[in-house]
Amino acid sequence: MKKILITRKLIKSSEEIAEKIFTVNLNKEDKLLTKDELIKKSENCDGILSSLTEKIDSDVISKLSDKIKIISNFAVGFGNIDIDAARKRNIIVTNTPDVLTDATAEIAILILLGATRRAKEGIEAVKTKNWKWTADFLMGTQLTGSRLGILGMGRIGRAVADRARSFGMKIHYFNRSRLKKDLEKDAIYHDSLKSLLSVSDFFSINCPATNETKHIINKESIKSFPDGAVVSNSARGDMIDDEAMVEALKSGKIYSLGIDVYNGEPNIHPDYLTLPNVFVLPHLGSATKKTRTAMADLAVNNLKDFFQTGKCKNKVN
Ligand code: GLV
Repeated sequence: MKKILITRKLIKSSEEIAEKIFTVNLNKEDKLLTKDELIKKSENCDGILSSLTEKIDSDVISKLSDKIKIISNFAVGFGNIDIDAARKRNIIVTNTPDVLTDATAEIAILILLGATRRAKEGIEAVKTKNWKWTADFLMGTQLTGSRLGILGMGRIGRAVADRARSFGMKIHYFNRSRLKKDLEKDAIYHDSLKSLLSVSDFFSINCPATNETKHIINKESIKSFPDGAVVSNSARGDMIDDEAMVEALKSGKIYSLGIDVYNGEPNIHPDYLTLPNVFVLPHLGSATKKTRTAMADLAVNNLKDFFQTGKCKNKVN
């Protein structure tokens, strides 16, 4: 039986499936492992089922045992793993695409609406019993009939687009390459970020975290937004330069921000917590029972496929 380390506690049924297939080193207390602990605990293992909370950088990868042949990440994003360093050591890295698309698109819409309709201020007013109905109380802006710019038109970006169309929004996007007609539907392709930003009354970040996308929303690029744009980020914190965003939120250049993911999670830029126009959630994108179960089962299945066949369809490196 192959031996695997599962770095974080999974839903019980998924751990039970893993235990039928592998000898499993579980993290029963669900304690966040340090780099050294991860290296040590995986010493006698053939594979690792990792989570986005572990940074498996080139240093960690260089110290992993030669036995490790696969890192199966329990996430669609794999920015936490240095996939080139893994490839150089002949370690394959896999992810969990598709199964979390709908849940994540739902959260993208939730934070977009939360930011647009001033939900944070509304919740605060209710909690502090500091409200009464008046004709102009907490008026927000409205999605209907406006333009949504989507950065990254992969599966999740397209699922956000589908939902936004039902709000009567016109979809614009920027992506590494233009989509085929059947996937693009009626969305308008922009061949630069600047061009996309210039029409984005609303903006949804749905691209992966890479060296190219790090801080892609920064002091300079923010200038291209129409005044009073609403921004939402349900992908990874890396894409936003927080200082520049805070400045734009304070000046009103950006009307509001809906955000589920952060630079240096679980830390959050302190101003995101105090500014009234920032609607925050604690990285809930894929957090439904159905989705987290499907993700864990897929992550286990990726390991199983690889050990049985030497191949795996969700390989990313
Ligand atoms: C969740 O954030 C994921 O990347 O799967």
